[in-house]
Amino acid sequence: MKVLLTGGAGFIGSHTAVRLLEKGHEVVIADNFVNSKPEAVNRIRKITGKDVKLYAIDVADRKKLETVFAENSIDAVIHFAGLKAVGESVRLPLLYYRNNLDSTFTLLETMKKYGCNKIIFSSSATVYGDPATVPITEDMPVGNCSNPYGKTKFMIENILEDAAHADPELSVVLLRYFNPIGAHKSGLLFEDPNGIPNNLMPYIVKVAAGKLDHLNVFGNDYPTPDGTGVRDYIHVTDLAAGHTAALDYVSEHSGVGIFNLGTGHGYSVLDVVNTFIKATGVNVPYVIAPRRPGDIAECYASPDKARRELGWEAKLSLEDMCRDSWNALLKNPNGLAG
Ligand code: UD1
Repeated sequence: MKVLLTGGAGFIGSHTAVRLLEKGHEVVIADNFVNSKPEAVNRIRKITGKDVKLYAIDVADRKKLETVFAENSIDAVIHFAGLKAVGESVRLPLLYYRNNLDSTFTLLETMKKYGCNKIIFSSSATVYGDPATVPITEDMPVGNCSNPYGKTKFMIENILEDAAHADPELSVVLLRYFNPIGAHKSGLLFEDPNGIPNNLMPYIVKVAAGKLDHLNVFGNDYPTPDGTGVRDYIHVTDLAAGHTAALDYVSEHSGVGIFNLGTGHGYSVLDVVNTFIKATGVNVPYVIAPRRPGDIAECYASPDKARRELGWEAKLSLEDMCRDSWNALLKNPNGLAG
C-alpha cells in the first residue's frame, strides 16, 4: 500500500516509516519540521535502503496537502502530526486547539476529496485521564484529560468517530499509545526533543551524558510499590509494529477500531532509573522532588484486545529500551543535527 505519514519525520513516525518500508509498503511523508528534522528522513532511507517521498508542508495547508494527494495515489493515512508538549499546551491552549484540530479537518476533507478512506490516528493513553483501575481496557471512560494537549487527542477521537459513523466508506483505527521510549537498534533514529526534555527517558539520557545535573523524581508518595509514578513504557520499535498491524486491520474492517498499544507491565520511575543503570553501567544521579501537577499514580495498559484483534504484542524489555536510548545518544551526541 502507499501510506501517507503526517508527522512522519518525528519519533514514532520515523520508526513506523522504517517498519512499513521493511514490510514492502510505500511511504510518503508530510512534515513541517516544527518538532523534527529532515535528517530523520535521510536516516529512514539509510536504514531501509529504500526511498521515501518527502513533502515539507504543514498538513493544515490545504493547497499543499492537495498536491500530496494529487501527485500520489494514497491508500491510507497514519496521522502523527500534532503538537504534543503538555506544559506548553497549558500555556498556549489556542495554539494547540487550532493546530491539532485544524490539521485533522483539512486532512479528512482532503482524504474524502481524493477517495482515500483509511486512517490510523496517533492517540494517547492520556484520553483515560486518571483511570479508576489498572490495567486499562479500551472500554473504560475517556475524556477527563487534565490539559489541552490531551483534550485535542480526545476531541480528534470524537471527530474521527463521528466522521466514520456518517460515512460508511471511512475506516478508522485509534491507537492509544502508552509511554513510547527506546530508539532504533541502529542508533540512527531516536527521540530528539527541542530544549530541556519533559519526558522521563529523554531526561535520564541527558543526565547520564552529563548534560543535565540530576533527575528530579516527581514525587515518592504515590500509592505505588516504591511511591514513584508507574507507567507502561513501550519500545518505539514495538509501537511501530503496532501500526503495520493496524494498517492490516483498517484495510479489512469498516467502522472504528480502538486499541491500546502498551506492554501490560507497569514500571515505576525508580525501576526505570535502576534498569537504565544496570543496562548501561552509567550512573543517573537523582533527587526526590515535589509531584508534578497533573501527574497520576499509575497507568498501564491491558494489551489483550490488540493481541486478540491485531495479532500484535510488544516483545522488547525495559532493559532493551534503556540500552537502545543510551546507544542512540552515544552515536549522536548532538542529536539529529550531527
Ligand atoms: C506524558 C504526558 C502524556 C503524554 C506522554 C507522551 C503528562 C502529565 N502526561 O506522560 O499526556 O501522552 O507524556 O509521552 O505530562 N518523571 C519524573 N521526572 C522527570 C520526568 C518524568 O519523575 O523529569 C516521572 C513522571 O512523574 C511520571 C513518569 O516519570 O511518573 C513518566 O513521565 P513522562 O515521561 O513525562 O510521561 P507521562 O507523564 O506518563
